[in-house]
Amino acid sequence: MTETLPPKTPQPDPAPKGEVTIEAVTHHGMGRTAEGTLVPRVLPGEVVTLAADGPKIVTPSPERVAPPCRHFKACGGCAMQHASDGFVAEWKADIVRTALRAQALDGEVARVETSPADSRRRARLAGRRTKKGALVGFHARASDTVIEVPGCRLLLPALTALIPALERIAMLAASRKGEAGLTVTDSEAGPDLHIDTDKPLTEELRLSLPEIAREAGLARLVWADEIVAELEPPMQRMGRARVVPPPGAFLQATAHGEAALLKCVRDAVAGAERIVDLFAGCGTFSLPLAERAEIHAVEGAAPMLAALDRGWRGAAGLKRVTTEARDLFRRPLLPDELARFDAAVIDPPRAGAQAQIEALAVSQIPVIAMVSCSPASFARDAKILVEQGYDMGPITVVDQFRWSPHVELATRFTRR
Ligand SMILES: C[S@@+](CC[C@H](N)C(=O)[O-])C[C@H]1O[C@@H](n2cnc3c(N)ncnc32)[C@H](O)[C@@H]1O
Repeated sequence: MTETLPPKTPQPDPAPKGEVTIEAVTHHGMGRTAEGTLVPRVLPGEVVTLAADGPKIVTPSPERVAPPCRHFKACGGCAMQHASDGFVAEWKADIVRTALRAQALDGEVARVETSPADSRRRARLAGRRTKKGALVGFHARASDTVIEVPGCRLLLPALTALIPALERIAMLAASRKGEAGLTVTDSEAGPDLHIDTDKPLTEELRLSLPEIAREAGLARLVWADEIVAELEPPMQRMGRARVVPPPGAFLQATAHGEAALLKCVRDAVAGAERIVDLFAGCGTFSLPLAERAEIHAVEGAAPMLAALDRGWRGAAGLKRVTTEARDLFRRPLLPDELARFDAAVIDPPRAGAQAQIEALAVSQIPVIAMVSCSPASFARDAKILVEQGYDMGPITVVDQFRWSPHVELATRFTRR
């Protein structure tokens, strides 16, 4: 399973000579001139000249700020560090408004919740071997080149501190040609590392990796899909429960973003006694909601539901939580199955959940809390609900992929 990543930033056009004025910033974070030339790291209203090593700012925007990270110019991890927080928030809100307009929907973006710098608790880094050793970092802008990012302003300090240990691991997991994917997730017991590699797990590696994991303070080390070392269970707190997610499982990217989404969901379904949580993952919403309501958690990945179930059984004072492994694209819950619930939570992957939304739209379920990581598929699905008699509430944009073009949101639909 892969984490949802921001869309790839398109390559800038070859630079025409002379000064140009930036008209807008696209939803990929590229400046665009009236002629359609795409320019990175610029803002609307700015006059710039285009040079081979990037734009030179002639007239800066009042929204321009000094990038907080020294790697910003080269690193592909961030697109918008040159813009004020206020500009980025309004730009993300506008991406949502544009997606709604494309479906002829009226919608109000009530607020934007932006996660602080240095707060990403989960990230996929790339590791590559070099002549001298190994490199670990993010890909350079629009490139396969890996660049080192010491002092990166996205990640939790506990994750940036791990980079030297990851370089040691990249020596074993990557090659000069083949890259290793290193997904690190902060947990209560220390970082949880999932290595995506084609290299076989030899006996020698089986013997050496646990010691490397111990020295690095890892809670768990997973090579391809095999747990090679688990020094402590990599627990995640979900309400009163503690869950050990299976290797590679989806988790929200920041604790702040998760709390903002949970608040929206909680407010939307307040008072409900029987809630169905669709695309439930390991229980990010199910387990906190189980403090007040009975929950039926439905999700495609059985190991995630097993983790959710263990977390529920180990927690005190929660109402009943049942789980069901089911492919909701092919076999959505049908209106007669939805009839026993008084609220639904739905948090699908980027593609949205058209089949499940169509079933929800003709159900009598009074309230639906919807969370989305794609304004375009959200707007498509929202239109189905609105056309079938649901009112859409105010939208909260949750920016847990700070400085990237990625946009997440949550809102409530109520039956008219
Ligand atoms: C955006 S994540 C949300 C997970 C959870 N709500 C959370 O906040 O941690 C989407 C979830 O949908 C699951 N999923 C993806 N495709 C699915 C499908 N066809 N049927 C059921 N679940 C699916 C993924 O395994 C993932 O857990």
